[in-house]
Amino acid sequence: MFSEFREAVLETLKKEVPARAEDLVEPPEPKRFRGSGTSFREPPEGMGELGYPCFGLAKEQKKSPADIAKTLAVRLKTKTPISEVRAVGPYVNFFVDWNAFASSVKQASSKTWGSSSVGKNKTVIVEYSSPNVAKPMHAGHLMTTVVGDSIYRLLRAQGYKTVRINHIGDWGTQFGKLVVAYEKWGDEAALKKNPIKELVRVYVRFHEEAERNDALEEDARKAFALLEKGDKKLRATWKRFVELSLEEFKRTYAELGVDFDAWTGESFYEEMLGDVIEDALKKRIAEEEADGSVVIKFGDLPPMLIRKSDGSSLYATRDLATLRYRAAHYKFNKCVYVVGAQQTLHFQQLFAAVSRLGYADPQKCVHVPTGYINLPGGAMSTRKGTAILADEILEEAKRRAANVIEEKNPTIKNKNAVVNKVAMGAVKYTNLAQHRGKDVTFEWDKVVNLRGNSGPYLQYTYARASSILREGKAKKVKPKYEDANERRLLLKISKLPDAAEAAALNLTPHVVAVYLHELAELFNSFYENCHVLKEKEPVRSSRLLLVGAFRNTMGRGLELLGIEPLEEM
Ligand code: ARG
Repeated sequence: MFSEFREAVLETLKKEVPARAEDLVEPPEPKRFRGSGTSFREPPEGMGELGYPCFGLAKEQKKSPADIAKTLAVRLKTKTPISEVRAVGPYVNFFVDWNAFASSVKQASSKTWGSSSVGKNKTVIVEYSSPNVAKPMHAGHLMTTVVGDSIYRLLRAQGYKTVRINHIGDWGTQFGKLVVAYEKWGDEAALKKNPIKELVRVYVRFHEEAERNDALEEDARKAFALLEKGDKKLRATWKRFVELSLEEFKRTYAELGVDFDAWTGESFYEEMLGDVIEDALKKRIAEEEADGSVVIKFGDLPPMLIRKSDGSSLYATRDLATLRYRAAHYKFNKCVYVVGAQQTLHFQQLFAAVSRLGYADPQKCVHVPTGYINLPGGAMSTRKGTAILADEILEEAKRRAANVIEEKNPTIKNKNAVVNKVAMGAVKYTNLAQHRGKDVTFEWDKVVNLRGNSGPYLQYTYARASSILREGKAKKVKPKYEDANERRLLLKISKLPDAAEAAALNLTPHVVAVYLHELAELFNSFYENCHVLKEKEPVRSSRLLLVGAFRNTMGRGLELLGIEPLEEM
């Protein structure tokens, strides 16, 4: 495996240059020829599979890097899986022993390939999605859902104990408005048919009418105060709104294949809120203002309001209680919040506050900010009124996936299921292919596309490998790889564990997405340049083993992204 090769190289380096062994680098990827589909421009001859740049040592020893490389190359020991150490200009290059390395196809074909036990006995909470009751899930929620699910999968594969939490927005003053509005203008039949739509309708109406009628706001405020006090009738109405909204959300989650271990929304912490406010006051971390409101003030951040003058709680209050509860209940090593970048300040305040209150160690709390989703027309996921809905995106993806499948393979078995998997794969990949903090633009022609940098391209490449393996079985051979296409593919395959670990530790799924894209390109280049089924033994079997290792690696990688592989496409 590549990591073993790297370890071996590091070990010999550490004996000669202990302080600078980590300067080691991987040579650049082969570049694709412009315009041509799958041929690669070879990296310059003699780069090997790892290179050691001598610039750092040269500076220290006031010698030329090339001279250092020459002397060093002679002194460094070669042992399997290193076949050769060679000085090339200012670099010492290390070459893999392909005979030894070839057997790694076996390891790469195993069920546990790409996983580790780095996180053993450590608990990580991953909170994501967290839509708001009575409001449709928007593109921002879709993004955190997809990114959060992948982060969960990445951590799980590293052996962490994971807890997936959906912190549903099911509490707050808006529920005062909702119950009042529904009582006045609600339509039962419409609510049954399309609950969120109906709730949005009465909510919008509330705001329109409230502009002319001041009494409405006051009614809503009172209604929420009653709700917080536990009024039976209001509670029942609220509960119904929550349940109906959850049903709709769960339909979207089922479509995406996303799930949670806990559905503890904001209301779950309601009984703990009074205590948090009192505690903050008692510890003199919060202050009561003249109007009765309670704030936590920081030196370097804007103040955080935790009780309104009318006594009601806020989003921030509920997050304080949540974090206190999570620390005590789960004893987490990390609590990861996958939430849009627009809430960065909120999380800075939250972590600073829990630190002063002693509820949780802020070093263990991470906000993973996600970017915005843009549509080509310029609509953004956050700007008021033009909010893009999650369902809109999923519907469009399904429509386009259906066209693609219709064109490519109209008689395919389980067509609907395939279309769905392609659509979800397309949407997920688009959200995961670049650093999750960056904004994403859905250019539909690229999102749902069997070629290029897309989820369906990965699924298609996987299906291609699956079809080869349906046609031929490998005989028992000692695998051997001599063609450059085979070697490049095998080398890439051997790096899945590195990509998976780096992605998990940095909470950056795009590292795996980028890796899989490169892997798919190398596979396709291999397949276009090397015969498999028509080849004579033992090369045929060696190549079938390589195809099998590729298929498993791609499958394991897609699983880390939450994208379903396809056997046929
Ligand atoms: N419901 C919030 C929203 O839609 C997201 C909640 C994020 N999580 C948290 N613990 N504050 O904006």
